[in-house]
This record gives sequence, structure tokens and C-alpha cells, in this order.
Amino acid sequence: MERATIIGAGTMGHGIGELLALAGFQVTLVDINEEVLKKAYESIQWSLGKFVEKRRIPEEDAKAAMERITTNVNLKEAVSTADLVVEAVTENIDLKKRLFKQMDEAAPAHAILASNTSSLSITEMADQTKRPGKVVGLHFFNPPVLMALVEIVRGDRTSDETVEAMLELVKKLGKTPVVVRKDVRGFIVNRVLGAVMNEAFSVVEKGEATMEEVDAAVKYKAGFPLGAFELADMIGLDVMYEVGKIMEAAYGDVAKASPLLESLVAEGNLGQKTGKGFYNWKVGRPRISFRLAGKFDVQRLYAVATNETARLIHDDVAEPQDIDTAMKLGTGWPQGPCEQADKLGLDGLLGKLKELHERYGEEVYRPSPLLEEYVGKGWTGKGAGRGFYTYG
Ligand SMILES: NC(=O)c1ccc[n+]([C@@H]2O[C@H](COP(=O)([O-])OP(=O)(O)OC[C@H]3O[C@@H](n4cnc5c(N)ncnc54)[C@H](O)[C@@H]3O)[C@@H](O)[C@H]2O)c1
Repeated sequence: MERATIIGAGTMGHGIGELLALAGFQVTLVDINEEVLKKAYESIQWSLGKFVEKRRIPEEDAKAAMERITTNVNLKEAVSTADLVVEAVTENIDLKKRLFKQMDEAAPAHAILASNTSSLSITEMADQTKRPGKVVGLHFFNPPVLMALVEIVRGDRTSDETVEAMLELVKKLGKTPVVVRKDVRGFIVNRVLGAVMNEAFSVVEKGEATMEEVDAAVKYKAGFPLGAFELADMIGLDVMYEVGKIMEAAYGDVAKASPLLESLVAEGNLGQKTGKGFYNWKVGRPRISFRLAGKFDVQRLYAVATNETARLIHDDVAEPQDIDTAMKLGTGWPQGPCEQADKLGLDGLLGKLKELHERYGEEVYRPSPLLEEYVGKGWTGKGAGRGFYTYG
């Protein structure tokens, strides 16, 4: 593969283009007008300049990468010579389906068509094409040039050759690939992270703790890099809300979208980008006091993360090792949920889920059959020699 075309040159698309150009691809960026493309081109130039300034790449490499990038508003023309097309347009299934049809009609027969969607169905996009075996999810994290993880998502009809080609590509880009074996909504990272975020929202919604207390516990007790509310503000509450709705549509009561987001989005308070979300960013980054960390029981977060992880393994979406890698590289968690659960003890975590299920009667706390099965067999974690992993 030598030529890549990126459709949609926004936050993600321009970063993916930069990464591919650095790896030696001839890159064409496509968007709806020249103005957006100019902005994308300048953003890449700025980012490469930063890499040079920090001595992470020599100036000649930055220059050569820039010379490999062109822009085009004509999608059909831009994909006509591509070996790889990466779609990174707005998260809207009708738009993506329409573009996959056009990409399929105009791209060479050998070209792989990938989507960077965070939450939509790869299979539905593939169904618009005459090459479903060559359609795949290639889920980069923001910003693509810095984040180490890429989820490679199999649609129902994605071929082994396409997955192999994407594994090779992701390694060539210097990133770590994780294969998501089934086209499930949220893939791995957004499923497990979503469960944890929803739990944080739910505790505040029920008035059991303040967001500062939850965030203090998340950061200082669980050791996550950001508080849940802080992270939501950084991702953008509109994005969180949209993804939340897609997850709720797919999983029903197990992944109910939080009403806390709805009201803030309706008020136009979308987080860091608008200056206000859960926190007021106009006065700087939130200052979360260490002293508040004792009030919220982080065991609740571990319990829901373990439950969601067990569901992924039960449904054969991914292996424990891949889930751990994905969560550490995709979110900066100090430990993967399987390693963590094995250390804490699956029996205790199962007990916590049962206690929460009894207290609230909510579906999200109903223990995964896999977790029940493991604990039933005495596979309670590291101490027992077997949990998600086998020890010694
Ligand atoms: N932002 C993130 O953190 C993140 C992370 C991983 C994946 N994603 C996914 O990446 C995709 C893009 O997200 P983003 O954050 O870069 O969005 P964005 O809004 O920054 O960029 C989307 C771009 O698509 C362009 N576009 C819209 N319709 C188009 C069309 N018909 N033809 C060509 N271009 C068109 C828009 O003009 C815009 O420049 C989404 O599917 C999103 O779910 C986003």
C-alpha cells in the first residue's frame, strides 16, 4: 500500500493523514470545501513543526511528509488511485453509508475501505459496497499522532486478509493494534470506559456524591489519569451524549444514557471547547482536591468495568490480554480491567455487583454469566491461580 485517501479532514482525519504521510504514504485529504482542507493542512504543518521543535523528528522528515500530502474536494477523483481509504467524517450512519457507496464505486478494486467510526456499524457500511471483505473498522484515538492504540474492527464479512493487512499497517505506523472480533457497538474501549463513566454519572445523579468527590476518587484512589467528569468535558459532552444514545439503542438498560448530559448539551455547555460543561474551564483546568478522595467507593467503578469486560469475553469480542492493552493504551489506565480484577478478587467484585443490583434493581449491575461461572469454579483471581488469566 502506497496511496491513502482520507475522507473528512477534521479533528481525526487530519491527524490520520499526518500519521500516514510520516510513514511514507502519498496522502490525499478530502473534505467538503477548500477552507476546511486549508485548515487541516495548516494543522498538520503546525503539528509536524512541534515534533521538529521537540526533536522527535528531523526537519527533513517533516518537510518530506508535508510534500506527500495533497488535498481535493472531489471524493471520486481522490479515491480513484487509492490503495487505502480511511473515512473520518462526522459520526452519522446515513452520511457514512452514502460515502461508502461512492468510495466503492470510484476506488480501485484492490483498495481497502476503512472507517474511523467510534460507535457505528462497520457491517452496515460494508453492505453498501461490492467489496464487504475489504471493509474494516480502523479506530484511531485522539490525537492519532500521539495515541498508541488502534482498534481494528471486523465487520460481519471482513476477510482475514483485510485484518492481516490492517495489522501490518498499524504496526508500520508505530502503533499497537487490537483486533475487535465482532462488530459490536462501542468496540472495546468505549464499552468499558462507557460503563465506568455511566457509573460515575449515576452516583452524582442519585445525589450520593458530588462530581468533585467522584473525580477525586477516580484520580487519586483509582489512579486514572483524569476524573470522569473532567474527561467527559474534554471529550465534549455532545460527543458523549451522541455515543451514549447509540450505546443505549444497542444495549438498552445495560447502557442507559445519562440525563445529566442531556441538560448540559441542551444548554450549549459542551465542555472544555465551549468553556463550560460539568466544570467551568474559563477559570482554567479543574482543581480537584485530594481531600475529597475518600468519599466515593471506587470499588463500584472496578465492579462495572469487570462486568463489562466479562461481557466482552463472554461474547467472544476480545481476549483479556487485548482488553487490558486497549484500556491501558486507549485511556491511560494504569492497569487493564482484567489484571485489576484478578488482583482485587473476582468474588469480591461479583459481591459488589450483587449488592448494587439488589440496592438499585438496575440491569447494568446484573452480573455477567461469565463472572458467575468463574467465581463458581473458584477462579477468583491471582490469589487462586486463575481468574481472567492463569497464573504460575
Ligand atoms: N474526536 C474524537 O475524539 C474521535 C476519536 C475516535 C474516532 N472518532 C470518529 O472519527 C470521525 C470523525 O470525527 P472528528 O472528531 O474528526 O469530527 P470532525 O467534525 O472534527 O470532522 C469531521 C469532518 O468531516 C467532514 N465532512 C462531513 N461531511 C463530509 C462529506 N460529505 N465529505 C467529506 N467530508 C465531510 C467535515 O467537514 C469535518 O471536517 C467520527 O466518526 C468520530 O466518531 C472521533
